[in-house]
Amino acid sequence: MTIDYVHGYSELEARRLGDQANALAALLHEGTAYPAGSRVLEVGCGIGAQTAHLVAGSPGARIVAVDVNEESLAQARSRVAATSPGAAVEWLCGDLFDLPFPESSFDHLFVCFVLEHLRDPQRALVELRRFLRPGGTVTAIEGDHGSALFHPDSAAARAAIDCQVQLQSTAGGDALIGRKLQPLLADAGYAGITVQPRPVYADQNRPELVEDFTRNTFIAMIESIGADALAAGLTTPDAWRRGTADLHRTTGAGGTFHYAFFKATAVNPLKAPGV
Ligand SMILES: C[S@@+](CC[C@H](N)C(=O)[O-])C[C@H]1O[C@@H](n2cnc3c(N)ncnc32)[C@H](O)[C@@H]1O
Repeated sequence: MTIDYVHGYSELEARRLGDQANALAALLHEGTAYPAGSRVLEVGCGIGAQTAHLVAGSPGARIVAVDVNEESLAQARSRVAATSPGAAVEWLCGDLFDLPFPESSFDHLFVCFVLEHLRDPQRALVELRRFLRPGGTVTAIEGDHGSALFHPDSAAARAAIDCQVQLQSTAGGDALIGRKLQPLLADAGYAGITVQPRPVYADQNRPELVEDFTRNTFIAMIESIGADALAAGLTTPDAWRRGTADLHRTTGAGGTFHYAFFKATAVNPLKAPGV
């Protein structure tokens, strides 16, 4: 089973997801630790890049990791077997809108960089809430490409980023979803919602972040959609070259780059909403 989604399932994208998760593990997973024995559902686990960090942060939790793409799941299995041999993870290939679990069968739900790709993220959150026991928690992490601020500033670089925003929107997703997590969760019936912006900032004094985040995560993501942006008539070869070159300038001496992720946590209310 597979779906057509903006980043695709190439080897390069698998590497980018791994780099992204490793570069951001401390930033994104800080505060996420599930008690031993608790049942955790991760949806859209991809190649297991976040699963590996979930396992490391919650070694006694019983994690079920789901993705719609079988090849990604196979990679996820090997990744977690390599990083945490013997980890208690169950893998399931399936569509998060059509999962086979009984109601209230999980204590916690974890979803990272998935809602941004869905046509109806609110419906996803409603559907998934059924699998959470009352009082169970959801953690949702998303980016927001509107939060990319950099020096030297460049209209061409901003236009290149906007190509990604437009392509994702055409595919039914939303690359500006981070700022919308609170209303999405509220409208999906969750309570006790807390959203924390988790900014990444890289400059020459943080060379590892420049390499792992600015270059290998963010710029790599923008560069990967070049052919699609050109084919869709969103840019020209010259404009694209200028835009991506200007993004790379932010990684050089005197360059700086800022991006914000949004981490939301919320609770499945003890009583059904409206009761
Ligand atoms: C950007 S990747 C993120 C993967 C992982 N959560 C991470 O942070 O590295 C999005 C993943 O969501 C999966 N996905 C998208 N729609 C899905 C659906 N309807 N059901 C299950 N998985 C889905 C894709 O197959 C892809 O692996």
